[in-house]
Amino acid sequence: MPSTSPTRAIVTGHTRGLGAALAEQLIARNVTVLGLSRSRHASLKTRFPTQLEEIELELADPTRVAQWLATDALRAFVSGAQTVLLINNAGMVQPIGPVEGQDAAAIASAVSLNVATPLMLASALAAAAVDASDRRIVHISSGAARNAYSGWSIYCATKAALDHHARAVTLDANRALRICSLAPGVIDTDMQAEIRGSGEEQFPMRPKFEDLKRNGQLSTPDQCAAQLVDYALGDAFGQTPVADIREIAKPA
Ligand SMILES: NC(=O)c1ccc[n+]([C@@H]2O[C@H](COP(=O)([O-])OP(=O)(O)OC[C@H]3O[C@@H](n4cnc5c(N)ncnc54)[C@H](OP(=O)(O)O)[C@@H]3O)[C@@H](O)[C@H]2O)c1
Repeated sequence: MPSTSPTRAIVTGHTRGLGAALAEQLIARNVTVLGLSRSRHASLKTRFPTQLEEIELELADPTRVAQWLATDALRAFVSGAQTVLLINNAGMVQPIGPVEGQDAAAIASAVSLNVATPLMLASALAAAAVDASDRRIVHISSGAARNAYSGWSIYCATKAALDHHARAVTLDANRALRICSLAPGVIDTDMQAEIRGSGEEQFPMRPKFEDLKRNGQLSTPDQCAAQLVDYALGDAFGQTPVADIREIAKPA
């Protein structure tokens, strides 16, 4: 018998950072979560054994993602749900540095993790959840999709691809499928530590990110995830294909 949980969510990159906080916020709202990452969350399954499923999957390898999508796992997970939410959260900021110094394999991994896999999951979710009356897809984008930064050409290009995918999918005008590519602001995660650890010759804007951390201007993963989940499950979701949570959550 498939579960009749009214809302089910797939979250990529649920083991750390923003994704871990998203999974926990969803579970707190009684949503059953399927987490896809290379590893498992250290404690979430122990705390919420019936509300979390986890699959270990290398999301930077499109062949392995395609093999997993060819199984029945996704369809089985969403079966019986009224609302199905996909949050394409897993992403990487590497390779950082000017175009002439980028490693070819690192470029391929970034494009696979940041673009190919989110687009593959979006398509698969739309097809697998045809019985759900409400299908929602969130791409976790970035300010880097909308502003170009020296040293971040791959990251900027991949996040811009997610924005444009959401704009085009919206034109398909399927009212049971809503999508938004959402910039989450600057969050205190491992990725930010990695950015602050990059060489200034590779990423000239590094001092700005050091200042944000020093001045306490990063949001916590929990604060950001609470706003993102409220928006993703709310009525206004899908009215605009590209958004920034800092604008949406701004007090009037
Ligand atoms: N932090 C920020 O300030 C910021 C700002 C704008 C946008 N974003 C975006 O927000 C999202 C989350 O960022 P974050 O800061 O939380 O990142 P993070 O701390 O680096 O965490 C990344 C998550 O993705 C998973 N992951 C990484 N590579 C993977 C792979 N190859 N296959 C499967 N899973 C993989 C990791 O799990 P495993 O290692 O267990 O696989 C981890 O759970 C990203 O899309 C990022 O671009 C972040």
